[in-house]
Amino acid sequence: MTVALARLEPDDLVVDVGCGGGEAIREAAARVPEGKAIGVDPSAAMMRIARELSDSHAGRKRIEFVEGRAEKLPLPDASATVVVAINSLHHWENAAAGLAEVMRVLRPDGRLLVTDEEAEPDKFGHGDGDLTDPARVLAIIKDAGFVDVCFSKHTEGDVRMLAVTARKDVV
Ligand SMILES: C[S@@+](CC[C@H](N)C(=O)[O-])C[C@H]1O[C@@H](n2cnc3c(N)ncnc32)[C@H](O)[C@@H]1O
Repeated sequence: MTVALARLEPDDLVVDVGCGGGEAIREAAARVPEGKAIGVDPSAAMMRIARELSDSHAGRKRIEFVEGRAEKLPLPDASATVVVAINSLHHWENAAAGLAEVMRVLRPDGRLLVTDEEAEPDKFGHGDGDLTDPARVLAIIKDAGFVDVCFSKHTEGDVRMLAVTARKDVV
């Protein structure tokens, strides 16, 4: 659902922060035949599983997994056109620091998409921290300097998803 919502262009360079086993990266790689899909996760075990699961993927040459955390993304400045964080933001130790890093690695006009499965009505994530509150998620993304920050809700079958889309300004 998140990758469909991202409306990727063929040459996008997509980064998934907190990618886990890399499902969204494999989905994204199929949609960026001239681009690249990079998954970042602090769990070495997850990165190993993600690489194994991606070995036989048709787009494996466009897929990369890098161990790292949101607060110190192992990526160069202005290197990504799209960053996604799926069921991930509320796991970050420091969301503000992570969003500053997302801002750094995005190119001007690059897009951020934060999504979480809606386990409880109108709440992000499965935890009980302040990032379960959509208003708080919108606020920290705005505070990080993103523009065009929008909240939306999506349903597919039994799955309900909350999403925030945002953009890095060109100036
Ligand atoms: C619930 S899983 C979501 C995995 C995947 N995005 C998905 O939706 O299937 C949360 C992921 O966030 C990762 N994570 C935890 N702390 C993180 C941090 N500081 N920065 C980035 N990712 C982190 C975890 O290792 C885990 O893989």
